[in-house]
Amino acid sequence: MAIAKRQFDAIVVGAGGSGMRAALELAEANLRVAVLSKVFPTRSHTVAAQGGVSASLGNDEPDNWHWHMYDTVKGSDYLGDQDAIEFMCRKAVEVVVELEHYGMPFDRLDNGKIYQRPFGGHTSNYGERPVKRACAAADRTGHAMLHTLYQRNVRAHTQFFVEWMALDLIRNSEGDVLGVVALEMETGEVMILQAKATLLATGGAGRIYAASTNAFINTGDGLGMAARAGIPLEDMEFWQFHPTGVAGAGVLITEGVRGEGGFLLNKNGERFMERYAPTVKDLASRDVVSRAMATEIKEGRGAGKDGDYILLKLDHLGAEVIDKRLPGIREIAKKFANVDPVTDPIPVVPTCHYQMGGIPTNYQGQVVVPDGRGGETTVRGLYAAGECSCVSVHGANRLGTNSLLDLLVFGKASGETIIADLEANSGSQQDLPKDAGDATLARLARLDSATSGETIARVGADLRRTMQLHCGVFRFPDGLAEGVRMMKDIALRSQRTFIKDKSRVFNTARVEALELDNLVETALSTMISADARKESRGAHDRSDHHERDDVNWLKHTLWFKEGNRLDYKPVKLKPLSVESFEPKARVY
Ligand code: FUM
Repeated sequence: MAIAKRQFDAIVVGAGGSGMRAALELAEANLRVAVLSKVFPTRSHTVAAQGGVSASLGNDEPDNWHWHMYDTVKGSDYLGDQDAIEFMCRKAVEVVVELEHYGMPFDRLDNGKIYQRPFGGHTSNYGERPVKRACAAADRTGHAMLHTLYQRNVRAHTQFFVEWMALDLIRNSEGDVLGVVALEMETGEVMILQAKATLLATGGAGRIYAASTNAFINTGDGLGMAARAGIPLEDMEFWQFHPTGVAGAGVLITEGVRGEGGFLLNKNGERFMERYAPTVKDLASRDVVSRAMATEIKEGRGAGKDGDYILLKLDHLGAEVIDKRLPGIREIAKKFANVDPVTDPIPVVPTCHYQMGGIPTNYQGQVVVPDGRGGETTVRGLYAAGECSCVSVHGANRLGTNSLLDLLVFGKASGETIIADLEANSGSQQDLPKDAGDATLARLARLDSATSGETIARVGADLRRTMQLHCGVFRFPDGLAEGVRMMKDIALRSQRTFIKDKSRVFNTARVEALELDNLVETALSTMISADARKESRGAHDRSDHHERDDVNWLKHTLWFKEGNRLDYKPVKLKPLSVESFEPKARVY
């Protein structure tokens, strides 16, 4: 069947913070850019980011990018690449001020400068005490950022394809990427969008877990597309559990609550973080706080009738501060936890929030793969930015507010790189391979013709349960091994699913089936990578290997879909211009 085609200079898949920041760069350079999004752009998951975006502006107290770099390297448990981390921390001030000039409605200090609050793991003077580095728009920073970027893109005439789902990458025999095959959800039509540059900015995939702060759209679409196109996924074993998701509901309660002075209590009313992180207490990095909470619950000090949650106390901040700095949190607590935090603590539990791994890129946003000679090479025409990418600035554990920063820095950098690459190649579109789109059409044809099998909902629920039980905050060798077996089985089952509704127009069943393929690649790569890494580092905590093992495991994992093969590559310990931060014990 012939597929309709359209041509662009660049395609951006995803309209969250990184996609829109990149698109802005491209549109302002007068390139023909198409941005594909499953939802209206301002509903992308960046909208849910709450507490702030980090930048060492030093508006309220001394700060500098090198302290920020130190905190990020340490927070990553030394798995982050130090060239990329230096690049990000140095660029932070520039991209945040730029956003301010675009009209981002940040909260203000009395002197008119951007308001900044403390956040977990961010310190002054190399770990001495918490520092105010998170630039905030109340507790709706991502919302403000996404709307600012959208408006700026409209001004720059970026072309949005709203309610379009990218399904697969198109690669030629040289391995160059020439665009995507995509589905227009409104009509059910499949189209080839051809481009000289394709940027994956599809966000996270937290929907592989049963308890998640992530939106339903976060199904790892970019990861699935990359994996099916033969591109490895990096460091997929590292998933961040945010300490404060509303117990039972999963909705995020920003770390900004603790930044403003809130703290965690066990059922005895004990401020237990003083035992686990004596210096910065509740503002330790997320992996440390989540493990402490899980330990309190495991050892019988959880609150509630089943002892299965922790209390987040903030009433002492007073109604005025809560309403000014945390208005969204008061609303969420009332709606999802049935408590008013002005008088009562919020029940919270560690909840899946963020993937540190993803599509391997360099800090210019180019996708990189092993070159077969022990080094790596770029994939021509393919770029990735934001949560779906692994630069790797977050290593084994991300610091809060570094994700909004990552979106801005690497969204902009990938846009700049695409412009430079297109200028250098000054080329026309390459010819599409004869079989472009065939594999995607075959996937769709299987769904259309299947009249029996398992439902998408059932296989998806088993996938999420398996991830939650076998690959959570604490990981056990038997659980991981069993998890690998179960995930391989779920991957096979996902090939035998069926949907009843075969209609074309807004067929959400078909969309969910296609999303399941991406969830499977994400979950399988996670389980296999986690089972193989025999150490504890950052968010990956194994009961049989309690310590970090820099001798054997100071390296990045690469998972290849074909044969579920694993490979490894070295961590870049050398920054761009300063001395390395050598791995050492990580205490807060
Ligand atoms: O806690 C929060 O507001 C989340 C921020 C982040 O994940 O960076």
